[in-house]
Amino acid sequence: MSEYIFLILSIIFFFIAYLFKGNNNKKIQGSEKLEKLGKEYLQKLTKKYSKTEKLEKELQEKKNEELKSSEKEKIIKKENKKKITPSYTIIYGTQSGTSRRLSKDLYKESIETYKYNCKIKNASKVKSIDDFNNNKLLIFIFSTYGNGVPTDDSIEFTNMIEKNEFWDNLTNKNLKYCIFGLGDSNYVKFNAQAKRLDKIFSKYFQSLIPLTLGDDSNNLEDQFDQWMIKFFDEVPKFFNN
Ligand SMILES: Cc1cc2nc3c(=O)[nH]c(=O)nc-3n(C[C@H](O)[C@H](O)[C@H](O)COP(=O)(O)O)c2cc1C
Repeated sequence: MSEYIFLILSIIFFFIAYLFKGNNNKKIQGSEKLEKLGKEYLQKLTKKYSKTEKLEKELQEKKNEELKSSEKEKIIKKENKKKITPSYTIIYGTQSGTSRRLSKDLYKESIETYKYNCKIKNASKVKSIDDFNNNKLLIFIFSTYGNGVPTDDSIEFTNMIEKNEFWDNLTNKNLKYCIFGLGDSNYVKFNAQAKRLDKIFSKYFQSLIPLTLGDDSNNLEDQFDQWMIKFFDEVPKFFNN
């Protein structure tokens, strides 16, 4: 009887052991799978992390660049603030209107394109030394008429500056000037008025651009445009030196 019981117990034991072994194998297979999954997840995470790291780096670089350019802008603004805005007066003398028109062209270009402070005046409105004392730069655009005489609107002005006592009240010795004369080379006294003015002014001041004699018989407008290019090249140098 006890042998039977022993046999039955042994069979039950082996059966359980077999079952246990089978479960264990399954467990090992399961844990291997889990390990594999874990590894894959870890790899994905590292990839994701390095991607965000890269993005963060790019973002920081962009921010740095933006910071640099905004700093640059600030410096440019500061430097521009330091720059003096050129300020000058154009005085013209005309008989039939050409000098007035060219003066207005220069005036418009000065204030609209260059944003300079510019005034424009007919010679008949200049009655004292004030314009010479209160400007850093004066531009004279004068035509010649008759037999080398001033235009009607500049006779008084010419008489005034030809007198020595007019210059007694000059306080501004640093004034610079430039003259663009309007004349015609077919006349014997070519640009006599512009030459007359230059002779007087050169006694007291330095010229910004050498005396320029426009010739109505040879593309006067083109000559004036060329002169304007020189003028706008010299003006900022003069005011910001
Ligand atoms: C009647 C007359 C006389 C002139 N006399 C001279 C002269 O003596 N010397 C000169 O260089 N140009 C002389 N010119 C030429 C003018 O100065 C030139 O045409 C100028 O562009 C005219 O400018 P405005 O329109 O501003 O008066 C004379 C022109 C005219 C019509």
